[in-house]
Amino acid sequence: MIVAIDGYSSSGKSTLAKDLAKILGFIYVDTGAMYRAIALYFLTNEIDLSDEKLVQDSLDNITVSFENKDGENCVTLNGQDVSKEIRTLEVSQIVSEVAAIPAVRKKLVAIQQSLATKSLVMDGRDIGTVVFPNAEYKFFIIADVGERSRRRYVELISKGQEVSYAEVEENLKHRDHIDTTRAMSPLRQAEDAVCIDTTKVTREEQLALAIKAIESKQL
Ligand code: DC
Repeated sequence: MIVAIDGYSSSGKSTLAKDLAKILGFIYVDTGAMYRAIALYFLTNEIDLSDEKLVQDSLDNITVSFENKDGENCVTLNGQDVSKEIRTLEVSQIVSEVAAIPAVRKKLVAIQQSLATKSLVMDGRDIGTVVFPNAEYKFFIIADVGERSRRRYVELISKGQEVSYAEVEENLKHRDHIDTTRAMSPLRQAEDAVCIDTTKVTREEQLALAIKAIESKQL
């Protein structure tokens, strides 16, 4: 069984995905972390994103794997755990450009689909529309950009990163634009997805809304 959760950056989708996975006893898969791992590789190796051949050759040399250790996502890039390194603003600044490259999406969608041998809660931008269009349950998570920026800013500061609120807000708006307008599988709500606006709801309330939607579909 698959629960697909799509939505904007910092909308609360990964919090909901983790909470639902815990309650349902499913594995949580954060697909954004996979795009971030590839972005980290391109950043570290100074790959020119406009050089299609170089990008494809690099992808052929990259192994991204995903493990779920005690409910925590662990993403490895060529065998190295990069779970922490992928969370910087530098990676956030190029990840949407990287995720718009068709060859990158092709590689990661195949990996994501191969994980479906177990019940999953998977979050991302195209899970209910492209990766698992037949998912049993689909959610689309939205929230005001101001509230999303505030959440992301607090998160980065609490991790000791030196960022300003303005930088974080600009980055979110930039990513929203690229994620929703790219040619290949742009972020959009699947027709059969339940939309939850998390701007004014608590973590517990958003979980309750999702569980209610799941229960009402089962009746
Ligand atoms: O969820 P996140 O902010 O960690 O995702 C990072 C970027 O990856 C986001 O800007 C868009 C992209 N992404 C995507 O295009 N498709 C997915 N399934 C997941 C993430």
